[in-house]
Amino acid sequence: MIERVAKPLAGLLNWLAGFLNAVYRVLGRPGKLLQDLLNGSWLGHSLHPVLVDVVIGGATAVVFLDVLRVVFGASGTEDAATWVLALTYAAGVGSVLSGWTDFKDTASGSERNVVGLHGIINFVGMAGFGFSLAQRLGGNVDGAFWPMLIGYAIISIGSYIGGHVVFKYGYMVNHNAFSRGKRAKEFTAVAPVADVPEGEPTLVSLGATKVVLVRRGDVVHALKDTCSHAGGPLSQGELGDGTIKCPWHNSVFRLRDGAVVHGPAATRQVTYQARVHDGQVELQGPHD
Ligand code: FES
Repeated sequence: MIERVAKPLAGLLNWLAGFLNAVYRVLGRPGKLLQDLLNGSWLGHSLHPVLVDVVIGGATAVVFLDVLRVVFGASGTEDAATWVLALTYAAGVGSVLSGWTDFKDTASGSERNVVGLHGIINFVGMAGFGFSLAQRLGGNVDGAFWPMLIGYAIISIGSYIGGHVVFKYGYMVNHNAFSRGKRAKEFTAVAPVADVPEGEPTLVSLGATKVVLVRRGDVVHALKDTCSHAGGPLSQGELGDGTIKCPWHNSVFRLRDGAVVHGPAATRQVTYQARVHDGQVELQGPHD
């Protein structure tokens, strides 16, 4: 049902994803740093759910305080509710910014449609919180009750859909979480060194695991080919100064240890130890 409801939004959401990508491109390097901040690449996890926890926890506390006052006649809760709602709203603004930044790199189709529906619903719910906060700041605490309750109900539906997109589509989940790759306890030959041109990403297989090799002289770096962000093929990526850039959404990983240099990826790429031995490139690992 969620997919059916979201499907008519596809045209709008595809346009919006293109627009957001264009905005970040125009912003250049500051835009890249802002994107890293909002994706959570620096945190090692997506930032969006961290902020959402504050929003949902804060909104629940405000509704609880309001119900105590309106239904049970408790007094002295007004200031606490206003302060908590202000914090909730600030975290909500951060959630919206981080959410739409994650959204721009969604795969078109059901994943993008459902993420977009989640974002639009929560945007509307945030308007309810904003209206309620304005009422409280204006001294009208009674007029703040219903907008808060309606906003809370809307955000609850949006949150359910957010969970759906994570659990059903694995959205913003490490794409190597369930298969870190074949384990090689001993160094294992994967290709003659002559077949691994210098300075060119080269795809090899270790059992069923695809690995990308990057060789400079006798120094070889080896990363699992499947990008941790959404599964893009790193072997088709672009090399930088000790880095490789994913061709799908431009995440940049350090060749040496798979660390995330730029998002949207938030999880370190799986790496193997590599060496040249007897004319063969050999791998051992992966490393945790
Ligand atoms: S799949 Fe998205 S950056 Fe690699």
